[in-house]
Amino acid sequence: VANAFEARDRWRRSSEAWIQHLAREDVNRTLILDPPMLEYAGDVAGRSVLDVGCGEGRFCRMLAGRGAAVVGVDPTPEFLAEARERDPAGRYVRGVGEALPFADARFDLLVAYLSLIDMPDFRAAIGEMARVARPGGHLLIANLNSFATTRPRAWYQDERGEKLHVAVEDYFDERTIDLEWSGISIVNWHRPFEAYVGALLEQGLVLEAFAEPRPCPDAVARHPAMRDEYRVPLFHVMRWRKGEGCAAKS
Ligand SMILES: C[S@@+](CC[C@H](N)C(=O)[O-])C[C@H]1O[C@@H](n2cnc3c(N)ncnc32)[C@H](O)[C@@H]1O
Repeated sequence: VANAFEARDRWRRSSEAWIQHLAREDVNRTLILDPPMLEYAGDVAGRSVLDVGCGEGRFCRMLAGRGAAVVGVDPTPEFLAEARERDPAGRYVRGVGEALPFADARFDLLVAYLSLIDMPDFRAAIGEMARVARPGGHLLIANLNSFATTRPRAWYQDERGEKLHVAVEDYFDERTIDLEWSGISIVNWHRPFEAYVGALLEQGLVLEAFAEPRPCPDAVARHPAMRDEYRVPLFHVMRWRKGEGCAAKS
């Protein structure tokens, strides 16, 4: 897929800035996405989990802390080194979502925490996640809402920097988007929501839970900029189940 190598190289060059970004606390994760992701993961004690696009491993550590046997997979070696240093007992494997180096039906739970937007061939990655999920197992996905990814910066602002509205353009065209913030310079993919849902349905998966999470009022009081999430939600979280006894489609 065009741009795949550039995208991977940009993650490598941004890895240090990304690790620093997460160390300062990413409130989108801690205050918006972690609560529904943990709720939808359910009781993971004793469960085998694969976190696809695990980055420096923060969600792996969170699930391992709840008793799961977690494997993290990611193509960026700098993230794997950081993950191993922070969690020496954890298992972190180099690889891409599009070709997971694991046997069929190996995991109870597959996680993609804001990583499908980074995968050049998300259809192959969803096929791979469905393949390595056991029958009755789950895929847990946090993703950016597609109406927020048609442009590098979703919000239009006035000359004083006040956010006016989110702009949406060429919604149905799948394409790369260049993103730059805090020393991080990466490529994401914009795809219509229909494309993600279609790829999941194509695997015979069943949607069990869905949310467009917002920060709680306490969080908004502490971080007033998060009010914007009540105007336009930037994320959704979903849990899909692989049917008992039905093999994933290839
Ligand atoms: C936005 S970060 C999310 C990291 C982690 N899930 C988190 O929430 O902190 C996206 C991750 O996707 C990884 N990535 C990029 N291309 C990938 C691919 N083809 N397959 C799997 N992961 C990929 C990047 O290396 C990066 O760690």
